[in-house]
Amino acid sequence: SVMREVTGINEMEQLLQRKLGISKVIIVAGDSDHSPWVKKELGLATANCMKSLLKGNNIIAVTGGTTMSSVADALTPSVADGELLFVPARGGIGEDVKNQANTICSMMADHTASKHRVLYAPDEVSEEMYKSISNDPRISEVLKLIRSANLLVHGIGEALTMANRRNTTKSDLEKIKNAEAVGEAFGYYFNEEGEVVHKVQTIGLRLEDLSSVPNIIAVAGGASKSKAIRAYLKEAPTSTILITDEGAAKKLI
Ligand code: BG6
Repeated sequence: SVMREVTGINEMEQLLQRKLGISKVIIVAGDSDHSPWVKKELGLATANCMKSLLKGNNIIAVTGGTTMSSVADALTPSVADGELLFVPARGGIGEDVKNQANTICSMMADHTASKHRVLYAPDEVSEEMYKSISNDPRISEVLKLIRSANLLVHGIGEALTMANRRNTTKSDLEKIKNAEAVGEAFGYYFNEEGEVVHKVQTIGLRLEDLSSVPNIIAVAGGASKSKAIRAYLKEAPTSTILITDEGAAKKLI
C-alpha cells in the first residue's frame, strides 16, 4: 500500500530478509512491547500469510504463547478452501493453560470451523517416560500427524522471560542463565550464536524435524525480542517466513 511505501516498511522488509537470510519478512507498524494493538496486527498479518499458503487440505502444527493467541483470534473460515487440521507442535512445556499449544489449536479450529487434535502429554518427561509415551497408540497417532504437518506456525520468546513464565526448575534456570541464552522457540533455548543450550524434554516436533516441514512461519514482535529472533533464525531453516513488527525490525537491521 501507499502507506507502507511512505513509511519505508517495504524497504525494511527486503533489507531484513537479506540480512537474516530467510525467505521472507513481513513487518507490521509499531512495537508490541508498548502498544497491545500491535500484537493484533501481527495476528492479522499472519492470518493473511497463512491464507496465501493454504491451498487444499492442510495439517498445521502450532505452538502456544500470547502472540499465537492473537493469530488464533485473527483466523476466520476464509483462511483456506480445503480441510484444516490443527495439531500442537510439542507436548507440555510448562505453560499456563491459556498459553498452551493445545488451547491455541482448539481456538484456531473453532475460528476456522475445522478440526484439531490434542496432545495429552505431561510437562517435561524423563527419557524412560518419553519412550513409553511415544509408543502409546493415541499419542503416536498425533505424533505422526505432527511430523506430517505441511505448515508450522510458531512464536519466539526471550529466553529468561520464557524460563520464568514456565515451571522451570531452579537448576534448569541456572543452566539457561549460565549459558547466556537469549532466545527460545518450542522449548529450545538458544544463545546469541544460535546454538541450543537447553531444551525442554517433551514429545512432539524436534528441531531436526523442521527441515522437512515445507512451510514455516515464525511470529514474534517487540524490541525486547530482537536478540531472540536473531539467535533463533541462525538455526532455523532458511525457508522460514518471519512476521514481526517495527520495534523488533529496527533493532535487527
Ligand atoms: C510459547 C512457545 O508457547 O510461546 C514458545 O512454545 C514461544 O516457543 C512463546 O517462545 C512466545 O510467547 P509469547 O507470549 O511471547 O508470544
